[in-house]
Amino acid sequence: MRQTLVAGNWKMNGSREGNRHLLDAIKAGMDDGVSAEVVVCPPAIYIPQTARRLDGSGISWGGQDLSQHESGAYTGEISAAMLLDYQCKYVIIGHSERRSLHAETDAQVAEKFLAAQKAGLTPILCVGELLEEREAGETEAVVARQLDAVIAAAGIQAVAGGVIAYEPVWAIGTGKTASPQQAQDVHAFIRQRLAAQDANVAEKVQILYGGSVKPDNAAELFAMTDIDGGLIGGASLDAESFLAICRAV
Ligand code: PGA
Repeated sequence: MRQTLVAGNWKMNGSREGNRHLLDAIKAGMDDGVSAEVVVCPPAIYIPQTARRLDGSGISWGGQDLSQHESGAYTGEISAAMLLDYQCKYVIIGHSERRSLHAETDAQVAEKFLAAQKAGLTPILCVGELLEEREAGETEAVVARQLDAVIAAAGIQAVAGGVIAYEPVWAIGTGKTASPQQAQDVHAFIRQRLAAQDANVAEKVQILYGGSVKPDNAAELFAMTDIDGGLIGGASLDAESFLAICRAV
């Protein structure tokens, strides 16, 4: 049985003062019926604060992105080793906002996945189609292309050590969630595609759903066979909503 994972992606939100309250409230709520593995991914500058406040809490933390390079002349970038310096366990890779706003290509996403995995971080690889692509019936082709790029670079076994997040781009931050069945169909497709190369990897890998997950739709999404948890944006900025989603497992 795969353990359910609930990861909060704060995106570019937060402040030292606000984070203190948010992190303490999440920490305080963990004893109360949360069995999922919980991860918080704040903006990089707040990772040290997060590490200090969550140390020993059982909650994990991670980065929202990393450089594919180890070190050197890459102004503004953060390496896998730097994330590990602050005990990050996870890192989000290839979020749709990185792909669209920072022109990250499938090849670059694959390099980042490899860099994270080699360093010992657990990559959370985001895949998902645009609305036009869904309407054109291209969802599976897009997701397959994004997935295959990573498998080609890192190998199928590396995928077993990571997490996949299916995030239909049209559902991110829009309030339009994929229906549980729509999400399940793509999750099953991802698992089948992995199974075609290695049945064990397909069975083992956690596939999260992301895109407008809220306390009132989390339980029905998490109940689907191939949905192993969620990547939560907006609702992870409010302790009560985030904890309600964690408890919906
Ligand atoms: P959302 O974001 O929950 O605000 O839709 C999800 C994400 O982008 O990871």
